[in-house]
Formats: sequence, structure tokens, C-alpha cells
Amino acid sequence: MDIGQARLHKARHRERARLGNGMTKAATSEGGHLDYYKEHGISPVRYAMDDLSQHLQLRDSLYRSIGLPQVAFRGSDILEIAPGSGQNSLYLAVSQPRSLTLVEPNPAGLRDIQKLYDTLSEPHTAPILHPARLQEFNPGKLYDVVLCENWLGALPAELELLRKLAGLVAPGGALVLTIVPLAGFFPNVMRKLLALRVVPSHLGFDERTAALVEIFGPHLATIPNMTRSHRDWVHDCMVNPHYLNVGLPFETVVETIGDDMAVLGTYPKITIDWRWFKALKGTERRFNELLIEAVAANIPSLLDYRRTFPAGAPGANAAIDRHFGTVHRLALAWQAAFEADDSAEVQALTGTIGSEIHQISELLSEIDGDLAAAVRELEELWLSQQPTAEAVRDMPLFGSLFGRETFYAAFTRGQPQVEGKSPVEGNRSDGKAAGA
Ligand SMILES: C[S@@+](CC[C@H](N)C(=O)[O-])C[C@H]1O[C@@H](n2cnc3c(N)ncnc32)[C@H](O)[C@@H]1O
Repeated sequence: MDIGQARLHKARHRERARLGNGMTKAATSEGGHLDYYKEHGISPVRYAMDDLSQHLQLRDSLYRSIGLPQVAFRGSDILEIAPGSGQNSLYLAVSQPRSLTLVEPNPAGLRDIQKLYDTLSEPHTAPILHPARLQEFNPGKLYDVVLCENWLGALPAELELLRKLAGLVAPGGALVLTIVPLAGFFPNVMRKLLALRVVPSHLGFDERTAALVEIFGPHLATIPNMTRSHRDWVHDCMVNPHYLNVGLPFETVVETIGDDMAVLGTYPKITIDWRWFKALKGTERRFNELLIEAVAANIPSLLDYRRTFPAGAPGANAAIDRHFGTVHRLALAWQAAFEADDSAEVQALTGTIGSEIHQISELLSEIDGDLAAAVRELEELWLSQQPTAEAVRDMPLFGSLFGRETFYAAFTRGQPQVEGKSPVEGNRSDGKAAGA
């Protein structure tokens, strides 16, 4: 090692020490997704939307499933942060809210939004567009519904922004978020690492994109109803240096905003609540706790979007869930070592991740043979000396395995209010129950 190399090595070592706990450089940068999108002039989140009425129906299905029928939007003050292409906001706009505020800092996204509304002929509430980041958006008012989809992950600065979002919801209002549980994220976490391993690092943005579309096209082609182009998916997930940071467990969300916010509904729906409605008061409401218990019971169903498995007894999935968390942490460390060109660290982490995958497949074999076989196939490829692009492209079992990686969740803010009194509970002065 010459002096120049030794200095570089030391500098990388210092950089790693500074980043600590496996965060990648991209992960800790202020910019996150935004710097990457702006650098390449992209907003890789466009839906194929040939039929507007079907798109609106899809959004209606989603919102009603999380507890928000169209009347929740009509006449309301709505705020959507990070709307991207703006296509999701169309449903909000045609629901004719009192106001619709969109906060989007990416110039490419802003252009898409402008174009979209310029050609929208249905009656709608015109959005107020703020070309700003959430960090700088301080409206000095609260909103009935606040939405933020597919943006914030669990980095400390992003959790701070999640708290800020929750703070913009009016009492009795709703916050709509997407949540990325680590079991559901696992297949794409591994795709991301495989992408880094098999695509030569000297390729530029366009060549890398083309190579990754070629590799993962056959995987994506197995998904019915996909609305994004493979190219956009590759840009947003496989090339995006920030991608591994989008993991956002349910527990983290509840810990971050839960004191004041109670879950209203999720999609997919996972909570079953058989309690007698008359018990749902005071500390017995426990909506968030029930959600966390339901997530823990259903970890295997998060792993494969095509299937569901019977809910496990309390604690039954704790071990496998821990492994998904560990793989995610190791994957961040692997990416950091890879970006720092630290081949010894990459090799060591490759082995550790391989043994985690092995333990996941062992635990899965007690639950489902097919799922275990798909993960075993991944393990073999991952631990091979030199996985090739063709081998990744042609994985017969893992190729079609995608997790339930995006859950929509609505939370309501605070206890129910009545004019001048709060909360409603305990407000009855006659002490009588309305009913049995
Ligand atoms: C993956 S896209 C999701 C877009 C859209 N919500 C969707 O689900 O299709 C992430 C979005 O977050 C936006 N974004 C990134 N940093 C932001 C910030 N600091 N404040 C507000 N939006 C931001 C990006 O410009 C981008 O539109």
C-alpha cells in the first residue's frame, strides 16, 4: 500500500467510524432520495394511468379500507407531503376538499404535477402547490387529513419529520402513511445487494439502469397489476443509493407518533378485533397495541405477497422477525463497506448475511416448504463466489418472491372532542349508558 492508498484507507476508516451502525453515506446525507432524484432529473414514481376512473376506484378502495370514505376528504383541509407525480392526489382533488395543499421539492415531480392538473377536466379542487421540503414547510395551521406515502423511513432525521407530520394533523383528523415492515422488505433488500454485486460498478446511470431492467424484468413480470414501469422501479429501488433506508417497522411508527395518534385502519388489513364495543374506552382502547400484536403474529404473511399463513401464537415469530431486522442492519453495513471499497469487510458481511439467510430458511421450513426453498435458492446464489447477472435474472423460485413491503395506515389524532370539552369520554353528566 503506498502513502496515497494508506491515506485513502485511513480516511475511509474514519468515515466508517463516523457513520457508525451500518448507515450508508447516502443514508446519513441530508438529501436522501431528493438529492438522487435531482441529480438525475427524475421522479420515478409514475403510474400507468390510461383509465382515470379505474385509478380513482383503486384509490377509493385503498382509502375506504383504511377507514376513510370519500366524505372524509370532501370539504376538508388536506395536506399531502411528497406527492411525487401527483397522481395519487387526483382522488383527493376530485373529492372536492375545501383546500388541497401539495408540498413537493423535486422539480421533475413538480413538472409532472403541473401537467397532470393542466389536463384534468373533472370537477376538482385546484391544489396549492408548494415547491418546498417538509423541513421548510411551516404553514402555521393544522389540516384535517395529512398524507405522506412512500417517502419517510426510520433514520433519526426522518422520524423527526414523521413527528412533524403528526403535529400538522388537527385534533380528530387523520394521518395517512406508508409503513415498510422489515419482513416484507427482505426480498428487495436482497435484490438491492445482488444488484450491487452483479452490475459492474463502472457503469454509468443509463447503462446501469438498462442492465438492472434486464436482470429484474423477469422478476417484476411475475407481478400482476403492477402500475409502475420497470425502469421507474429500477431507478427508485435498485439504483437509488438511499433505498435501504425506506424500511419503517410498525413498532417504530407507533413509538414515534403513538402517544397522540391511534391507528384507524391498515391495508392490507391485519388486525382482527373481536372485543365488545362497550369495552373500547379509556386505557382499554389499545388500538395501537392490537396492531403491533397482529403484526407480530403474521410475520410469515409479510414475506410473500401472494400468500397468507395462519397467525402465530404470541412470541412464535419473534426469532424469524429478529433475523429480518438483522439482515436489514447488515445490508446497510454491507452497502457502506461496498461503497467504501472495503473488500475484506464486504466479504465478512457477505458470510454473516449468508448465515442469517440460512437461519431464515431453516425457520421457514417449519412453516412452509415452498417459501423455505425460495430462500434456500437465494442463500446458495448469495454464498456463491461470483454470482452472475444471468443467475440472478433466472432464479426460478426467489425470482417471483416479493414481500408485502408497503402497508398503508391511517391514524387519528387525539381523543374525540366536543365543543369546549375534551375528551368525550366521561362527559356524560347523567351517568347513564346509552343502551344496555
Ligand atoms: C418515492 S417518492 C414517493 C412519491 C409519492 N408519494 C408516491 O407514493 O408515489 C418520494 C417523494 O418524496 C419527495 N421528497 C424527498 N425529500 C423530501 C422532502 N425533504 N420534503 C418533501 N418531499 C420530499 C421526493 O421528491 C419524492 O416525490
